[in-house]
Amino acid sequence: MLAIIGGTGLTRLSTLAVAHREVIRTPYGEPSAALVVGELAGRRAIFLARHGHGHTIPPHRVNYRANLWALRQQGARAILAVASVGAIRGAGPGDLVLPHQLIDYTWGRTQTFFDGNGAQVVHADFTRPYSDELRGMCLGAAADSGIPLTDGGVYGAVSGPRLETAAEIDRMDRDGATMVGMTGMPEAGLARELGLDYASVCVVVNHAAGRGDSTTQVSLEGIARVLETAMDKVRTLLEHVIVRIPTHPSGTGRDAAADPVAGAERGNGR
Ligand code: HPA
Repeated sequence: MLAIIGGTGLTRLSTLAVAHREVIRTPYGEPSAALVVGELAGRRAIFLARHGHGHTIPPHRVNYRANLWALRQQGARAILAVASVGAIRGAGPGDLVLPHQLIDYTWGRTQTFFDGNGAQVVHADFTRPYSDELRGMCLGAAADSGIPLTDGGVYGAVSGPRLETAAEIDRMDRDGATMVGMTGMPEAGLARELGLDYASVCVVVNHAAGRGDSTTQVSLEGIARVLETAMDKVRTLLEHVIVRIPTHPSGTGRDAAADPVAGAERGNGR
């Protein structure tokens, strides 16, 4: 089953026919919001508002572990994360981009389910951080729906909540990052640890600091304006993605490096 994590501008999924809401407690604390379970384009899906229903949880306070654990525990095997980003190069406000790589600049966030407590040391492979299979479905959905979706980009994940300096963006550009956002990590890494297929549809809401029309400052009003119109495209795209998700019980989803969910249920979690 597909789960959609909605970011800024997507705290509700109006196209989801809601069956019920699940308030979940996890060994890692509470997810950002109740999970909204329902049908999207006739297929079962779960929606979770990453920043809470009222958009009150800033990126550095999101309980990423609880969010992913709860989604997996409720049967999600693939996660499509919607995230707003600033463009460093190659895209502009209003564009949708499907990153194929990421660079993690975040700090002070809990990065793993495997953090000791006497458990086995586990190193998850993260060479290709996004699921090729789920990315392929997103590209197919874009072709079906006629919604332009740029194939590939390097997501630079920062802690925020402040935006970057122009020099920080220059450095990220030199590193090879083509977009910058605040929520892509540890979300993608934790999904990998749980064996979930994960991809992210990034909505470009501004030129990054020092770039394009953000030469002297990033306009927050501009961001709000772009978000409103771009999310309509995202909703349409999601309806075309979900019909491509296999319906057999396991759905998509690779083998977990280990199974921290089972471990937590046995009492190894916190
Ligand atoms: N920087 C970091 N995160 C963001 C930006 C940005 O410019 N725009 C949207 N999310």
